[in-house]
Amino acid sequence: MEDPIAQIDQIGSAMLAELQGLDSSEALEALRIKYLGKKGSITAARRSIGKLSADQRSLAGKRVNEIAQKVEQAFSQKKSQLAQQARPSGPMFDVTLPGIRPLLGRPHVITQTIRQLCEIFGRMGFEVIDAPEVEDQWHNFVALNIPEAHPARDPLDNFYIQDDLLLRSQTSTAQIRIMENRTPPIRVVHCGRCYRPDTVDATHHVMFHQIECLYVDTDVTMIDLKSTIDQFAKVYFGPEVKTRLRPSYFPFTEPSAEVDMTCMICHGKGCNSCSGGWMELGGCGMVDPAVFQAVGYDPEKYTGLAFGLGIERMAMRRHGITDIRLFFENDIRFLSQF
Ligand code: FA5
Repeated sequence: MEDPIAQIDQIGSAMLAELQGLDSSEALEALRIKYLGKKGSITAARRSIGKLSADQRSLAGKRVNEIAQKVEQAFSQKKSQLAQQARPSGPMFDVTLPGIRPLLGRPHVITQTIRQLCEIFGRMGFEVIDAPEVEDQWHNFVALNIPEAHPARDPLDNFYIQDDLLLRSQTSTAQIRIMENRTPPIRVVHCGRCYRPDTVDATHHVMFHQIECLYVDTDVTMIDLKSTIDQFAKVYFGPEVKTRLRPSYFPFTEPSAEVDMTCMICHGKGCNSCSGGWMELGGCGMVDPAVFQAVGYDPEKYTGLAFGLGIERMAMRRHGITDIRLFFENDIRFLSQF
């Protein structure tokens, strides 16, 4: 009979050799059954020890235990190595951890302001209209009674795209657009972007928004102009606010005025943020007969009021914002406050 100890050593070495080449947990399990299972070779070798002579039995028993221990150790090492390889290579995802709450977006504060303004004017009976931001000289200047030589048309004061195309410098273009397409009565507001190459500072930007209001009928008067502006200001800024019209000049209105409201900081007493207790809101006036003629309306039959107010400046006053640049820096810490 072959030396039982040599036989046991051979079984152990054979299993360790087979173990090296394994690459799946299924193959590993098959190997375990082959050697360590009930009918496995190591189990069989253990059983056969009983048939040996007394001195051979103790030596062989000791050897078989050593081999079994070695084999089991190698087996469990291989098992964890295979388990490691089976894991996905990317970062582990723990489904029990609390989730990352997504940031909820919201309309920009200027969009919110535009919606509020449209809502207020809507309640006052005005229709909200749209108008293009890229305009020709006719709509931005000529029909608004701004002659060729007027400094407002200077290429250095506008963003011209081509000879006859520019980014509009004011929303008054919407007055022409609507009057060209409709007959009175007209009662509309338009909110949108304007562009001017102004030096950017706390109250000026190269892109800003205006709201334009136009009311044309057979009997519109300055009382309508003043009362419309005043009612709007009281709803948007608060009932304590007062407005005034300060004589001014715009080529497309006659008479023309600047719209001022009482300062919301000093309430009309006078402070660093205002001019003697008043703050400017925009420009206004009664539609100039030359504008009616340009759009083919009879200036003897119709009268109209128009005003244009800066939307950023109004939002700044309403929310106590001191720098217009904050609106366009896209800083979420600022924007999330509104
Ligand atoms: C006009 O633009 C006239 N179209 C207003 C008007 C309409 C007059 C209808 C008569 C009839 P003005 O240039 O003043 O006017 O601008 C009106 C308002 O726009 C200003 O009071 C200010 O609030 C805002 N604005 C003007 N330029 C800038 C700028 N660079 N940055 C931010 N806001 C501005």
